[in-house]
Amino acid sequence: MRDSNPRTVYLKDYTVPEYLIHNVDLSFTLDEKNTRVVSRLTMCRNPASRSSDTSLTLTGENLKLVRVVLNEDSELGDKDYLQTPDSLIIHEVPQQRSFVLTIENTIDPKANTALEGLYLSNGMLCTQCEAEGFRKITYFLDRPDVMATFTTTIVGDKDRFPVLLSNGNRVGGGDLPDNRHWVSWKDPFKKPCYLFALVAGRLECVEDRFTTMSGRDIALQIFVEKHDLDKCDHAMQSLKHAMAWDEQVYGREYDLDLYMIVAVGHFNMGAMENKGLNIFNTKFVLARPDTATDADYENIEGVIGHEYFHNWTGNRITCRDWFQLSLKEGFTVFRDQEFTGDRTSRAVKRIEDVNMLRTRQFAEDAGPLAHPIRPDAYIEINNFYTLTVYEKGAEVVRMLHTLLGAAGFRKGSDLYFERHDGQAVTCDDFVSAMETANGVDLSQFRRWYAQAGTPVVGVAQHFDAAQKTLSLTLSQHCPPTPGQTAKEPLHIPVVTGLINRDGSPALCRLGENEAAAEQVVLELTQAKQAFVFSGLEEEPVVSLLRGFSAPVKPALNRPPEELAFLLSHDPDTFNRWDAGQQLAVQVMSGLIADYRNGAKLAVNPLLIDAYRKVLEQSWDDLSYFSLLMTLPSELYLTEQMRVVDVEAIHHAREAVARALAEQLREPLETLYLRYHRDESGRFDAGAIGRRRIKNTCLSYLAQLDADWARHWSLQQFNTAKNMTDQLAALTVIVNHPHPARQQCLDGFYRQWRHEALVIDKWFAAQAMSPMPGTYERVLGLLGHPAFDIRNPNRVRSLIGAFSQSNPLHFHAADGQGYRFLADRIIELNGLNPQVASRMVGALTSWRRYDENRQNRMKAELERIVSTEVISKDVYELAAKSLA
Ligand code: TRP
Ligand code: ZN
Repeated sequence: MRDSNPRTVYLKDYTVPEYLIHNVDLSFTLDEKNTRVVSRLTMCRNPASRSSDTSLTLTGENLKLVRVVLNEDSELGDKDYLQTPDSLIIHEVPQQRSFVLTIENTIDPKANTALEGLYLSNGMLCTQCEAEGFRKITYFLDRPDVMATFTTTIVGDKDRFPVLLSNGNRVGGGDLPDNRHWVSWKDPFKKPCYLFALVAGRLECVEDRFTTMSGRDIALQIFVEKHDLDKCDHAMQSLKHAMAWDEQVYGREYDLDLYMIVAVGHFNMGAMENKGLNIFNTKFVLARPDTATDADYENIEGVIGHEYFHNWTGNRITCRDWFQLSLKEGFTVFRDQEFTGDRTSRAVKRIEDVNMLRTRQFAEDAGPLAHPIRPDAYIEINNFYTLTVYEKGAEVVRMLHTLLGAAGFRKGSDLYFERHDGQAVTCDDFVSAMETANGVDLSQFRRWYAQAGTPVVGVAQHFDAAQKTLSLTLSQHCPPTPGQTAKEPLHIPVVTGLINRDGSPALCRLGENEAAAEQVVLELTQAKQAFVFSGLEEEPVVSLLRGFSAPVKPALNRPPEELAFLLSHDPDTFNRWDAGQQLAVQVMSGLIADYRNGAKLAVNPLLIDAYRKVLEQSWDDLSYFSLLMTLPSELYLTEQMRVVDVEAIHHAREAVARALAEQLREPLETLYLRYHRDESGRFDAGAIGRRRIKNTCLSYLAQLDADWARHWSLQQFNTAKNMTDQLAALTVIVNHPHPARQQCLDGFYRQWRHEALVIDKWFAAQAMSPMPGTYERVLGLLGHPAFDIRNPNRVRSLIGAFSQSNPLHFHAADGQGYRFLADRIIELNGLNPQVASRMVGALTSWRRYDENRQNRMKAELERIVSTEVISKDVYELAAKSLA
C-alpha cells in the first residue's frame, strides 16, 4: 500500500469527463465472501470534452474482473484492455454513438475492514460510497460530475438476507430456486455513484407516513436489528419534523415515494445521504430515554435533518468535483443548525455550535492542516471532511444569510434550486445565485472560499461628547497559513448593538439619514474602516459580533467590569453568554500564570459575584441558564495560550470551579434539590433544561470533595430512570475519588452490556477522567472483551476520547499518551485508514507545546510516517503535520 510518492490532486487541473454514463443497470448476487456484480453501463463520449483520446479509463480497486463485453455481443480479450491496481483501461471505444459496456466482477465484503464499498456489519451487508467507495464495488467513472439513472437488482439467500434494499422505488421481486429471492429497485433521478447504496440482511422495520405540501403520500421506513425496534421513535419523529421544516423554510418537497433509513453498528462517520436510502451510524438513530442522553436525542434530530436536507442540497444539486464539498456540506450544516435552533432553543444551539467552532475548527485553522473551505489540493479526499469544510463552511453560508437577510437569502436559494436542479455545480455557482437574486456584488465575499485561517478583527472606539458620536474603527488581519502567506481583506458582517450605562439598549444611528435601529450589520471590507454612530448622549458599551456573526477572533481587551456588565445586560443571548466566558477566561489566564509561578490560586471575587448574580436570577430557558453557569472548557483555554500548559490549565480551571462551589454552595445545593425529582426522560425543552441545570450544579458541588455530593451522585446513579441522569452521575463519580467508583463502573457495565451504544459511553467516561491512573486504565481497557478495534464507535469512545478530550493525561510529560496513540494509529492504518487518519489530529498541534512535548509528539509522527505500509490517508495528515 505504501505509495512512496502519493499523488496530489489539484483543483486547477479540473477537466470535464471524457465520457458520460447515462444509465446504469447493476445486478448483485450476494455472498459474504464472494459477491458477484454485473454492471451494464450505457455511455457516450462527452461532447463537451476536448480530449482526443479514444480509450476509456474506468476506476476500480480491489476488484476481481471476470469479463468485459462491449455492445452486448463482443466479449473483450486481454489485448483489448489493461488492468492496473486502480483502473481498467479499454483501448478503444466508439466515439460517434452511444455504447453499452458490461462488466462482471467479484468482491469480498468480509475482507473489507476499511468499511468503504460493500462490507459486513453484524452479518448485514451494506455500502458506503462517498467519497470514492463505489470504485471498490465495480469499475466506473467514480466522480461526482458523472450522473446517471440507476436500476439495481439484488439476489440473495432468503434466510441470511431477507431484506434487500437499494435506492429509489421497488419495481419488482420474486422467488428463485435454492432458497433465494430477488428484488429490483429503480431510482428515476440522475445521481453520481457516491450516492448509490445497497443494504441486505436480517432487518426489521418501523414504518410511518408523511403527506407533502402538494399532497403526495410518502412511506417512511427505518430499518434496524430486531432488538432495536423499540429505539426508533425519536428518529421517525425527527424525520417528519425535518420534512415539514424544509417545506416551510425552503419550499422544498421530497421527491420519491419512499424514504428509507438503515442503522448500522460499524460506520466510519455519522450518516450518509444516499438517495432514498440513508445509511446511519446506530448512534444517530437509536434512542430510548434509558439508553440515550438528551444530547444524543438532540444529535439524532440534527443528523436525521442533515441527511434529509441533503436530498436537495447535495443530491438533486450535487458537487462538480470534491473540492466543492462545502457546497453541499457547509450549506447542509447551516440548514441543520437552523432546524435544530427552531426545534429547540436558538440561543443554546448557537452557543453549542460556536463552542465547537472556536475550540476545534479554530485550532485546525491555526495549525499545519489549515485549508480553505474550498481546498485547492488533496492527496486523500477523505481527509477533507473537516471541521473547516463543514462548520466554517456553514458559518460562511450564515454570513450570506446575515448580509442578505432571511428574505434575500430565500430568493437566492430559490434561484439556486431553479437554476441547477439535476446538475453538478461549484461553490461559485451558489454564490452567483445569491448575487443575481439580490442584485448585489459578492466578489469580495468569495474570498472566504479560497482563504484559510481565522481573521483577527481589531476594535478601537472613540466617543466625542460634543458631537455625540461614537466612532468605531474596525480592522482585520489574517495570519499566514501553510502555503498561503499573503492574505486579502475579507467581507465581514459585524452585527453590532449599543448599550447605555444604565443597561438599557441605545439606538444605533449610522450616518445622517439612516433610521435608528436596535442593532446594525457593519460590513467590514477594508483592512481598516471607521463607522460613526450619532445621536448618543453618553458613551455606550458596544456589543460586537452579536450572534457570532462571523468566524473571526475579535481582539478586544475589555476590563472585567465591562464584561460583568454585558453578562447582566446584553440583550443578545450569544454575547451575554460570551461576556461570561471572556470574564472567566481572563480570571483563569491569571491563575494559569500564578500556577506556573508557584503562587497561591486566589479567584477574583468579581467572577464569583457575576456567577452569583446569574444564579439569583430566574430563567425560563434552563438550558441557557446552565450554559451561563458553565466555565470555558480546557480545550477553549488551550486555544487562548501561546505555549499550552495542560497542567496549569487543568488546575486553574479546577480552582475556579472549587471556589464557585465553595462560595455559592447554598444556592447550588438548593437548585440541585429543586430539580432533582425524577423525570423518566421526557424529551421536551422543559425537562431537558431541568436535567441540565441540576447536573451542572452537581458537577460543581462534586469539587468540594464532601459527603453531600458523594451521597447525591451515588443516589442519582442508583435511581436514575434516564441515561442523561445516570451518565451525569457516573461521570461525576468517575472524575472524583468516590469510594463507590469501581462498583458503579461494574454495575453500569453489567446493566448495559447488551447495548453497544451505552457501552461506548462507559468506555468514554473512563477515558476522559482526570483522575490519576487513567492512562493505565485506558491501556487495560484495550484488552477488555468488549473492546473491538474494528468497530469505529469503540475506537472513538476509547482512543478518540482519551486523545482528543483528555488533555491532562494524553499530554502527560513522559510521552506515554503519544506513544499509545501512535501505536493504535499504526495498527488501525492497516485495518481502516479513514478511522486511523481521524486519530492523527491529536498529534498535529505539536508546535503549540513545550519543547519536551514537542519532541515527543514529533517523534511519534515521524514513527508513523516511516511505517513500512502506510495508507494515503494517514500519510497525508502525518506528513503535513511535520512539514
Ligand atoms: N456526506 C456525509 C454527511 O455529511 C458524510 C460522509 C462522507 C460519510 N464520507 C463518509 C459518512 C464516509 C460515512 C462514511 O452526512
Ligand atoms: Zn453532510
